[in-house]
Amino acid sequence: MNIDYSQIPSPCYVIDEDRFRNNLSLINSVSVASGAEIILAFKGFAMWGVFPILKEYISGAAASSPHEARLCFDEIGVPAHTYSPVYKEAEFHEILKYSSHITFNSLAQYSMFSEMVAAHPRRISAGLRINPEYSEIGHDIYNPSAPGSRLGIVSGDLEKEGIPDGIEGFHFHVLFESDSYALEKVLKVVETKFGRFFPRLKWINMGGGHLMTRKGYDTEHLIKILKHFRERTGLHVILEPGSAFGWETGELVATVEDIVENQGIKTAILDASFTAHMPDCLEMPYKPGIIGATEPVQGKPVYRLGGNSCLSGDFMGDWSFDRELKPGDRIIFLDMIHYTMVKTTTFNGVQHPSIGIWTLDNKFRLIRKFGYDDYKNRLS
Ligand SMILES: Cc1ncc(COP(=O)(O)O)c(C=O)c1O
Repeated sequence: MNIDYSQIPSPCYVIDEDRFRNNLSLINSVSVASGAEIILAFKGFAMWGVFPILKEYISGAAASSPHEARLCFDEIGVPAHTYSPVYKEAEFHEILKYSSHITFNSLAQYSMFSEMVAAHPRRISAGLRINPEYSEIGHDIYNPSAPGSRLGIVSGDLEKEGIPDGIEGFHFHVLFESDSYALEKVLKVVETKFGRFFPRLKWINMGGGHLMTRKGYDTEHLIKILKHFRERTGLHVILEPGSAFGWETGELVATVEDIVENQGIKTAILDASFTAHMPDCLEMPYKPGIIGATEPVQGKPVYRLGGNSCLSGDFMGDWSFDRELKPGDRIIFLDMIHYTMVKTTTFNGVQHPSIGIWTLDNKFRLIRKFGYDDYKNRLS
């Protein structure tokens, strides 16, 4: 890591421009070599202060709401590929205004809005989300193909109804931090179940979950299967990863403010919160990496780390450190950019971490600081 954390205010999310550019350049090279269009899923990463950098490498985004679609239009300068589990009539004009592609989650939703799509002065391409009822995702909360899932149309229903006029694309999303071999298996299922409709389509969006920037990901294999798929089907292929963009590009810098002890458990209380600022740790759950800390080791100081909210469960443990912790020590949580910044809250009114970037010339640039108004304005 090049970052000099002593220069970062606390608490603060800091993205490393160098690591971010490495991810972007890898994603761009996969897109060029495979002929697939790769866009950023805002739900995983939407730090628009760095979009000027992003735009050097990619040209679009996937939105899941009117606000995300507008952010794409305003800050990337192009309409979004939009998919939402449901559209409301009152907000659909916003979706139309800011989208180039709109994917519908059900045939009923398409039938409700198809005339508005067709009548729009700018050409908008309509698609359907399909549910292949196959996924390798172990965590049900992230599995869109779990039995009873509300996401996407199953092949049986499409067989019965057929695809309505005006539909130009299919969208599926069934991967999560997956490799290209998982995608290959999914594609077999998708082609078997839905392939007979492909001749009527122009594009297929293979969703997210393609963690191509993770060490060891076989990008050559991904390129090969995407190319073969394009050649075989003649479809324009779109991928919309989120995690892959922000993967391991930055940290959350926090500070120990106090140490408390109860029944032999020592907790270092931080100026940041797991529930408000690292919600995935509790939701998934997973234990984040910390610079200079390890799993508990006998003979070394062991600490639980506690958040500064009042939620009893706002803690994670345990880690070993080389020496006893004391107030003022920095705690640097690894990989806190994708799905972390987009999910934060101002629960308890605790200070929201600032947002900054460590630039290529080894300087810290503060992008955003939060204050009382940010907390207050959400609540009335
Ligand atoms: C429809 C859709 N597209 C794309 C993504 C992005 O996935 P990931 O960030 O895992 O690449 C998600 C994640 O939930 C999704 O639901």
